[in-house]
Amino acid sequence: EEAIAAHGRLCYGRERNASARGAGRIVCRPECPNALIEANPLYPAAKLRIDELNAEERAVYATLKPERLPQHVAIIMDGNGRWAGHRSLKRFLGHQQGANSVQLVTETASRIGLPWLTLYAFSLENNLRRPRAEVNFLMRLLRTYLESNLQRMMDNNVRMKYIGRTHELPAEVQEKMRWAEQATAGNTGTTLTLALNYGGRSELVDAFRGLADEMKQKHITPAHITEEDIHRHLYTAHMPDPDLLIRTSGEMRLSNYLLWQIAYTEIFVTERLWPDFKGIHLLEAIAEYQLRERRYGGLSDSVGEVEENPDQITIVAN
Ligand code: IPE
Ligand code: IPE
Ligand code: MG
Repeated sequence: EEAIAAHGRLCYGRERNASARGAGRIVCRPECPNALIEANPLYPAAKLRIDELNAEERAVYATLKPERLPQHVAIIMDGNGRWAGHRSLKRFLGHQQGANSVQLVTETASRIGLPWLTLYAFSLENNLRRPRAEVNFLMRLLRTYLESNLQRMMDNNVRMKYIGRTHELPAEVQEKMRWAEQATAGNTGTTLTLALNYGGRSELVDAFRGLADEMKQKHITPAHITEEDIHRHLYTAHMPDPDLLIRTSGEMRLSNYLLWQIAYTEIFVTERLWPDFKGIHLLEAIAEYQLRERRYGGLSDSVGEVEENPDQITIVAN
């Protein structure tokens, strides 16, 4: 702590990886949720466990271009209630089956060496608008899920993280979350981030609050704010933006998920309900992603040089 006093100050969880180097820097405690996480190098061969995929998954994996795999896949896991409804079961059973899909998809992601997988498990609006009984069930399910799947996370070298206003969740849930996060902190494979009590707009509010505090302290004026400053204050400051966003159950909306981060993310919507979504469907979504051409507002590679001089073209008024 003496060294920190000389060269910087401790982050108590409010700053997000601000100024990592130099005097006056902010140093995260080891348990700090904001501690800088280095992205894993893209798909290091040593971490691939393709031999652990099942035969169907291996067949789809074989069609993928290894150099065009996404780094970060985000999923809106929707349709648990409908899955149960179609079977005349209670919604709870749909959620329980959905938890099973979480584990299977995570394990497939870890076998192909996907660095980042971010799952929308419970939104801020779910917390506010769903019946208390359902919310309580989801909280209990989350605790049980973490407890009973920790060994599998370890076996798959998965590191667990969370985004959202998790401090508003019940204390015993937070405790279990911290436990799983700490136990898996040393794992170097896929980082599984669960979005819990998460809302994209509330994330932006939290980011702007953090940024406003920083500006006040450092006497920065609004004209100097950059996109990078906003990025630094998001819950996801340590991750690349998602390359691919998957939504199950066919709804064509974002439901307040990662609003800032998905500016140029490829979106894949499937009618399949989340409890029916397995590792093979993740691989199929990645195959579809690889057919997309990402232009980021630029031009397609197939568009050659513009031949004519646009200055010579008469613009006709409509
Ligand atoms: C997604 O399934 C899981 C959560 C939002 C917690 P839903 O519960 O939204 O299922 P549907 O949309 O009602 O089918
Ligand atoms: C989005 O699903 C939230 C999660 C998957 C956790 P919802 O079921 O809450 O979304 P809406 O209400 O249909 O937009
Ligand atoms: Mg839903």
